[in-house]
Amino acid sequence: MTPDEFREYGHKLIDWLADYRAGIASRPVIAQTEPGQVKTALPTDPPADPEPFDAVIADLDRVVMPGLTHWQHPRFFGYFPSNASLASVLGDLVSSGLGVIGLNWQASPALTELEEVVCDWVRRALGLSAAWSGVIQDTASTGSLLALLCARERATNFSLARGGLQAEPRSLTVYVSTQSHSSVEKAALLAGFGRENVRAVPHDDAFAMRPDALDEMVTADLAAGRLPCAVVATTGTTASTALDPITPIADVAARHRLWLHVDAAMAGSAMILPECRWMWEGVERADTVLLNPHKWLGAAFDCSLYYTRDPDHLVRVMSTNPSYLRTAADGRVTNYRDWGIALGRRFRALKLWCLIRSEGVSGLQARLRRDVDNAKWFAGQVRATPHWSVVAPVPLQTVCVVHEPPGVTGEALDAHTRAWAERVNRSGRAYLTPAILGGRWVARVSVGAEQTTRADVEALWALVRSAAEGGGQNTIQYMKNC
Ligand SMILES: Cc1ncc(COP(=O)(O)O)c(C=O)c1O
Repeated sequence: MTPDEFREYGHKLIDWLADYRAGIASRPVIAQTEPGQVKTALPTDPPADPEPFDAVIADLDRVVMPGLTHWQHPRFFGYFPSNASLASVLGDLVSSGLGVIGLNWQASPALTELEEVVCDWVRRALGLSAAWSGVIQDTASTGSLLALLCARERATNFSLARGGLQAEPRSLTVYVSTQSHSSVEKAALLAGFGRENVRAVPHDDAFAMRPDALDEMVTADLAAGRLPCAVVATTGTTASTALDPITPIADVAARHRLWLHVDAAMAGSAMILPECRWMWEGVERADTVLLNPHKWLGAAFDCSLYYTRDPDHLVRVMSTNPSYLRTAADGRVTNYRDWGIALGRRFRALKLWCLIRSEGVSGLQARLRRDVDNAKWFAGQVRATPHWSVVAPVPLQTVCVVHEPPGVTGEALDAHTRAWAERVNRSGRAYLTPAILGGRWVARVSVGAEQTTRADVEALWALVRSAAEGGGQNTIQYMKNC
């Protein structure tokens, strides 16, 4: 494709995306395709000869669009908000268009220095002290893996330079909560700890990690001759946005020399609101903390921020120094290849830079406050309605609800919850994700898509009630009325 063709089709595609976003509310939220339908609409063999790009654009409408679940839809209440604000989309486009790769500082100084600046902007916006240094990773999964690798190497005084974990005399243990994201256990397994050495600390009534139970488990492991290594606390768990109490967990970590990693993938964005910072009180005592601006904040996926208090340790664990990557600037600049797993880096800072500049911190704060208010309104409606309940605290924007018709309990209640949630989703009018919380199925309503207004949340509540209270018939009637 020549630059002139790029100009022509680029304009077409920007228009196409702008139209998509402008009209997204009229689409069914969930994809309407059956398994395999997208694949069968595509040829088995790649095209032998060049095709006009218009044909590609036509297939975006014909094949791709029907196979999308619309995360940017104002009635997307599933999983978590993953807002790709259009300003950040432009930043991402610029990153791809420039096509630079940050192997080291010299490979594109702007890539490195803009990343240093935006990581610091976000640090300030979050109210974190200057003791933290940040880097952009692809996902929280990668960040948790990094944290546990750093923890492992600190506890073993750099076993990687010797025989690795295989040569350690004592088993190293890691502590997570029963509510930790699955990526945390996966990180522990990938870092070589082994499932037998990953402890799931029980939670309290609010689904938060119990520091007393953590202390007991660490003490028991020490008595059994194991080496407690790291604890992962979560600010905003996936199922219910539960808040693990960081200060008492940090006390346990300090007493037993554990690495403290705070996974604030989802809720971390809310720490730009000073009134929310109590939720991670004690975070300054952690070793590492991460948050995903690609969730609620509005940076197009993928953009995960990883902060460490000890960048030298991170670099020592991750460092590679082949001759072809050395430059005269080394020692005076940051080489982010040593701050993570991948050597090559995308210019991810651009999308965060564009987002923050176009909305300003005040704009981001206003949107998040709107979402918190909407979630609290929804929770209030649920609490005030007979046979409905909110089954976990609602500190932010996730509301876990059940509808309990008289006499329906246990497995029958689980089946009812899943059935009405499925009816909501199949209606195409809204999307939410059921999940297991405290051993029972609940419907999770995650408020916070960029376009979601109070009217959307009101419509969701009406839909949810009709789907649960009236069964299938009411939902069909509701859809006709909408
Ligand atoms: C608390 C928490 N941690 C980690 C993750 C994983 O995020 P990522 O997809 O960036 O790896 C999630 C995703 O939902 C999450 O909610």
